[in-house]
Amino acid sequence: MKIAVYGASGYQGKLVLAEAIRRGLTVVLVGRDAVRLQHAAAAVDLSSPDVRVAPVDDHDALVAAFGTADAVVNCAGPFAPTGAAVVRAAIAASRHYVDTAGEQPYIKAIFDTFGVQAQAAGVTVLPAANDACVPGDLIAALLAERLGPLEEISSIHLIAGGGGPSRGSLRSVVESIDIIMVGGLVYHDGDWRVGLPPRKTSIILPRSAQAVPVAKFPLPEVVTIPHHVQVRHVEGLAEAALAARLSVPIDPSIISGLPEGPAEQARATQRFTYLIDAVALDGRRARGVVEGPDTYGTTAVIAVESVRRLIADSAKPGVLAPAQAYDPAAFLHSLLPHNVRWTVQEGEEHTAGN
Ligand SMILES: NC(=O)c1ccc[n+]([C@@H]2O[C@H](COP(=O)([O-])OP(=O)(O)OC[C@H]3O[C@@H](n4cnc5c(N)ncnc54)[C@H](OP(=O)(O)O)[C@@H]3O)[C@@H](O)[C@H]2O)c1
Repeated sequence: MKIAVYGASGYQGKLVLAEAIRRGLTVVLVGRDAVRLQHAAAAVDLSSPDVRVAPVDDHDALVAAFGTADAVVNCAGPFAPTGAAVVRAAIAASRHYVDTAGEQPYIKAIFDTFGVQAQAAGVTVLPAANDACVPGDLIAALLAERLGPLEEISSIHLIAGGGGPSRGSLRSVVESIDIIMVGGLVYHDGDWRVGLPPRKTSIILPRSAQAVPVAKFPLPEVVTIPHHVQVRHVEGLAEAALAARLSVPIDPSIISGLPEGPAEQARATQRFTYLIDAVALDGRRARGVVEGPDTYGTTAVIAVESVRRLIADSAKPGVLAPAQAYDPAAFLHSLLPHNVRWTVQEGEEHTAGN
């Protein structure tokens, strides 16, 4: 199995390369700069790397590079200015596509723009194959399976430790600042809207009696979940302190002077907790919890497992949410060796993947 990694020279790109190699996949390193791609190959101990230079404005070079592999993983963020060109080239090359984007408007634009083209080409496009969107989307599917049609889903992100965001994540924050400032898109009665007040302002964490303040935040799963779950209202929330930190755009010149991302030791200290709270139309409630370490390392695992499944098992063509592309419980179980634990709990009942 061979995958083309676009943006292979970046922080997330190198983690994806390393994970793909660990899984026995062959990698093609693609990006705009030959020297940085060679450095990335050296960083993951590739002795005779397959490196292809293809800037985003060179469609033919992108198509030719992607045509050498079975599928594409795009790690080149910020995605808003570049991602559509990479998706277009993957479709033109008839290759399945996944990316690690977290930018909510970009992800919505990919669903809105490329569905018909991807279907016509027989290609599956799966944006936001990252640590947060994939588990959140899959858990939402499991909650809907239990509760039936839903009144609401709240997806809530909490992250502790870890050494902070990578340069690329900070640049994506700058790129997304307008939607961050309005709290993101909320899905309501068949459409995505801005400006609706949050339904929750605090939550109780698992194993805790204390209320934690939360604030609206543009999470990717608000876009993906309504593609497969019958639900009236979906909102994204983050711990208020995290949302506040990510609402301050840092000057691009300051970002350029920062380390490319958290060091491995810092990543090892990180813990994420993602809660997915669902309320059925008849008022029954259930909560999914996903807990794990190292958001960037987990994103690499999820992106590689996603593309591996698209190549090996294939999914229907089109732009898909994670739960439309693979079996939710089976995919979540595959994350257990990476210390990602999940539970789905309705009332006193408990379904666990731990
Ligand atoms: N949960 C989440 O939402 C989540 C989790 C993980 C990652 N992510 C996203 O993943 C993305 C990557 O992060 P990162 O830390 O790896 O960033 P990074 O270290 O800055 O790497 C960015 C990569 O994109 C390439 N790139 C940037 N602009 C380009 C352009 N105009 N044309 C061609 N290539 C371009 C860079 O190429 P050069 O080396 O040539 O500059 C580099 O390979 C970010 O958007 C981040 O938000 C999201």
